[in-house]
Amino acid sequence: MNKLQLPSNGRIEARGLVKQYGDVRALDGLDLTVDEGTILGLLGPNGAGKTTAVSILTTLLGADGGHATVAGADIRDAPTEVRRRIGVSGQYAAVDENLTGYENLEMIGRLYHLGRKHSSRRAHELLERFSLSEAGDRPVKTYSGGMRRRLDLAGALVAEPPILFLDEPTTGLDPRSRNELWEVIDELVDRGRTVLLTTQYMEEADLLADDIVVIDHGRQIAQGSADDLKAMVGGERLELSLPVDGDVDAARRVLARISLDEPVVTDRTLTAPVAGGAATLTEALRAFDAEGVAVRDVGLRRPTLDDVFLALTGRTAEAGDTGDTGPGLPDRHHTQPTPTIKEAA
Ligand SMILES: Nc1ncnc2c1ncn2[C@@H]1O[C@H](COP(=O)(O)OP(=O)(O)OP(=O)(O)O)[C@@H](O)[C@H]1O
Ligand SMILES: [Mg+2]
Repeated sequence: MNKLQLPSNGRIEARGLVKQYGDVRALDGLDLTVDEGTILGLLGPNGAGKTTAVSILTTLLGADGGHATVAGADIRDAPTEVRRRIGVSGQYAAVDENLTGYENLEMIGRLYHLGRKHSSRRAHELLERFSLSEAGDRPVKTYSGGMRRRLDLAGALVAEPPILFLDEPTTGLDPRSRNELWEVIDELVDRGRTVLLTTQYMEEADLLADDIVVIDHGRQIAQGSADDLKAMVGGERLELSLPVDGDVDAARRVLARISLDEPVVTDRTLTAPVAGGAATLTEALRAFDAEGVAVRDVGLRRPTLDDVFLALTGRTAEAGDTGDTGPGLPDRHHTQPTPTIKEAA
């Protein structure tokens, strides 16, 4: 494996990053590598350490341990060099509410010393590219959430950096805005940029990322392509919901005969990994019918982050992890050893 001495230029490489906030170990020896011109999805639930990792790699925050290089520059020894080569779009859009979209972008250009003319041209280009031309002369406070996120992303691109950090770029967006942003991000990588994207959505990582690192409690718990991760968690799921007076136990018994693993029951919804696609669905419906189990809805779906989490940690991504619980709360710590299955990737 490559050591840190000679990273290529558009590369991000981090080894053993540690960040401690009081009792909370936000990063606990995080390793990650993003090759030039690729997109890495850093996938994890609330409080997993995604923003902390981004803050450290973008030199906004110092690490308590480990080391990293970004575009060949050491985050500790050469933070100015790092900043010169990156664009950052934070989890909460950092745009000035009172300025127009155009003014926001133009101002960023000036901050990067692009000069008046160049800044203005970049601002117009980016507004156009992000479908904000029409809104460009309106104050940002009149923008929707999706427009703000697009403007924020545009801001990260003003100086045309080779490396981009996007912290949950689509959280809170409606499906249409999310799709629009996905297209833009995809295009960025087509143009050879290196992107580190954090997300809570398996679907997003699946769609955009070449490689995915799943983190929990500040450390990597799995790594691989979306297909690798899905294979790890057993591929597709059969999800079944029962009517209000449905027989959960009977449904569980029938489903267990067909599924690869024990069904997970949440209220009146049962989920289990299956193989065999549509044929399995037919088989399941026949079995429920034969056993007299009434079914309200049934379908196949792809694994979600929750499924990945459940398989890797024995708990769902949400359970006990509401993220904004603030500093010092004990539930941030490992209560059980986390299985490390990255070798399997
Ligand atoms: N300034 C801080 N002081 C104390 N604790 C912090 C601070 N910032 C983050 N933490 C804690 O560190 C852990 C990781 O937080 P971080 O914001 O990196 O998670 P995240 O993966 O970005 O979560 P989310 O998906 O909710 O954005 C959490 O337990 C959080 O409460
Ligand atoms: Mg975050």
